[in-house]
Amino acid sequence: MGKREVMRKKRRFQNNNLTKFFFILFPIAAIFSLMLSSNQALPTPALEEGELIANGFNIFLNETFDGNGRTCATCHRLENNFTIDPEFISTLPDDDPLFVAEFDPNLQKNFENPRLMRELGLILENVDGFDDLENKFTMRSVPHTLALRTSIAGPDGPRTGWSGDGAPGDGSLRSFATGAVIQHFTKTLNRVPGVDFRLPTDYELDALEAFQLALGRQEELSLPLPLKDAVATRGQKIFLDNSLGKCAVCHANAGANANNSDGQNLGNLNFNIGIEDLPDKPQDLTGELVPLDDGFGTPGNGAFNTPPLVEAEDTGPFFHNNAIDTIEGAVAFYNSNAFNNSRAGMILANLDPNGVGIQLDADQVVEVGGFLRVINALENIRQSIQLLELGSQKESFALQAPKDFLNLIIHEIDDAIMVLEGGGARTSGGVGP
Ligand code: HEC
Ligand code: HEC
Repeated sequence: MGKREVMRKKRRFQNNNLTKFFFILFPIAAIFSLMLSSNQALPTPALEEGELIANGFNIFLNETFDGNGRTCATCHRLENNFTIDPEFISTLPDDDPLFVAEFDPNLQKNFENPRLMRELGLILENVDGFDDLENKFTMRSVPHTLALRTSIAGPDGPRTGWSGDGAPGDGSLRSFATGAVIQHFTKTLNRVPGVDFRLPTDYELDALEAFQLALGRQEELSLPLPLKDAVATRGQKIFLDNSLGKCAVCHANAGANANNSDGQNLGNLNFNIGIEDLPDKPQDLTGELVPLDDGFGTPGNGAFNTPPLVEAEDTGPFFHNNAIDTIEGAVAFYNSNAFNNSRAGMILANLDPNGVGIQLDADQVVEVGGFLRVINALENIRQSIQLLELGSQKESFALQAPKDFLNLIIHEIDDAIMVLEGGGARTSGGVGP
């Protein structure tokens, strides 16, 4: 990230009004949009849904579940696209509950690794159970919680978290919150419900689920898009070409779902694409103990869950361990031996008439990166337009806080600019359609 981007981010964080405004915006927007879609006659279920989303928002932002002071938004930050990264972390005060392991003696050992948190944005997760805290853990990046409605339904049930098995019990998004409280909110490592934290109630789980499902994109894109930018257009073609980029095999429509050879949607799947086999991962270079992350299941099968890509560029660094910093770097990963020798890479090579997994030249990497930047910018613009539309309604809540409302829109547009700027001059303009 360039200096200018960091400055822009800082400016954004300093604007407390923005966070305050989210309080107002989401609940009312949720109810308001439901009112709009239901055309005057407001059925009770819609109102209840709006209320549920509004309460879910409040819980996500403020509820500590009688734990160590963290909330869901401690890591899934509203003002940072519902995730955190090292640059963002560097703007937080030392007493932020994110850093609880640094100031609470009960959580100093085996709860977080403060160095890996600050330098690489990694969070400690005991995905395979709490029975050997010293040795059994993984260090994972924080995924954004946008577009979840499109990205968690797999053929064998819901797939949540980087390995697809992040939620306890039925594995659903609803249950995920219970797992998050036990993992991240506890006051001591005993993790006794009722003592170290309280478990979410059924209503709270419903509300958190409704709120999270309301965030971001509600539908898949329909690719190809008619793009103006020549670089992004070439990138899109490569992305969709099942004999070249092969990206859409697993990321259909740049989302989180796989396709079979007939173009039929297979849902959200797990693959071993070899991220753990990358040599010199940033986490390993620190010399800190980071056990191999074995992915899905206990013990794991090495597979990780496919994330959506529309929201990827402005939620980096990338992959389950933040191994790669830039979107072009993430695209170039697919050229690596780590990918091409992975289970998924070898399957692609077996299906290829020339026995090639994925092999893009330097220009093609930039083109696919440009495409991913452009679709992320278009999504930011879509969100700002949606907000503008909400704001232009008569009796709109936006009139109560016009400055904050504008700030929110500027935040989205800033994101769009940031996303495009990072790609260099070649992709800095011509967003279409
Ligand atoms: C200390 C940081 C932290 C806190 C607090 C936190 N999360 Fe997370 N969240 C993470 C990390 C790290 C992951 C990745 C976990 C994994 O791979 O299984 C994650 C993953 C998720 C996912 C999966 C997203 C996906 O695309 O599959 C959801 C949903 C989620 N969190 C919701 C919540 C909710 C709800 C709360 C509050 C009850 C919460 N989180 C609190 C760090 C946090
Ligand atoms: C075999 C399935 C598969 C193919 C093919 C594939 N991906 Fe992925 N992709 C995944 C999985 C699984 C992950 C998450 C892996 C992890 O973090 O361990 C991922 C993650 C990513 C990420 C990181 C997203 C984030 O939020 O951190 C990017 C970017 C990405 N893929 C781009 C691409 C591009 C570009 C191509 C084509 C050149 C491609 N993928 C081809 C399965 C695939």
